Amino acid sequence: MPQIIDGKRISTEIKDELKAQAASLKEQGVEVTLAVIQVGQDPASSVYVRNKKRACEYIGFSSRSYELPEETTEEELLNLISVLNQDASVNGILVQLPLPKHICEDEILRAISPAKDVDCFHPLNVGKLFIGEPGFQPCTPAGVIELLKRSNIEIAGKECVIIGRSNIVGKPMAMLMLRENATVTITHSRTKDLREVCKKADILIVAMGKPRMIDDSYVKEGAVVIDVGIHRNAENKLCGDVDYDKVAEKCSAITPVPGGVGPMTIAMLMKNCLETIKVGE
Ligand code: GUN
Repeated sequence: MPQIIDGKRISTEIKDELKAQAASLKEQGVEVTLAVIQVGQDPASSVYVRNKKRACEYIGFSSRSYELPEETTEEELLNLISVLNQDASVNGILVQLPLPKHICEDEILRAISPAKDVDCFHPLNVGKLFIGEPGFQPCTPAGVIELLKRSNIEIAGKECVIIGRSNIVGKPMAMLMLRENATVTITHSRTKDLREVCKKADILIVAMGKPRMIDDSYVKEGAVVIDVGIHRNAENKLCGDVDYDKVAEKCSAITPVPGGVGPMTIAMLMKNCLETIKVGE
């Protein structure tokens, strides 16, 4: 049986560490506040936003919630961001994605002050990540690194294959793995012979957005498999991009869905909220 990488346990461990740090900041009179903006009522987004607010409560951060109607204009949203950018009592600003079609996501993400950009989506912070400067780290990729480290899985010198090239996961994931001295390959929908490329991986990180697409034929014996996907199947049960039962028989370690990468994203968001205090120093 492979090692099952328990994201729920590890994320709780991280949140408890942050809770202690938040308490000591409070003693010094510093309170961390996260502003969360949701436009429209996408059900999945509502769940994520609720979980982010709950995590703030758990740690001892305060959260402010802005639930705006679907018809909100880009200008109105930009105005709100501008007010929050200037509000010294707000440390972090998060705009839940996706936004309604009539709002340009790039414009919105660029409008958030880089010092309050807890998602690490602003081009300035993405640039810092690429050149290895300290600062915010993108939540899901940073969560994957923590899962590996806290499970005592060595990264340096390992062949890492990432499936997916999104700005939220694939590309920043490659940067963080490179920082940890892995040899990194990014694959995508146009990759030739994906199966053969994946079979070279010591660490396979799957963020392709296709339910249970990756079975054991993509996995080298003894590889570590990290599943970033999350979907609901026909029976309304959560599943990932990896065919867990088939892959579990072949790999040395694997993340389950749910309870793998998912809870880590929020834990790392909370870490970035604390980081705002340092960024602002
Ligand atoms: N939608 C899906 N994932 C994310 C995320 O990490 N941050 C934000 N803001 N929206 C998302």
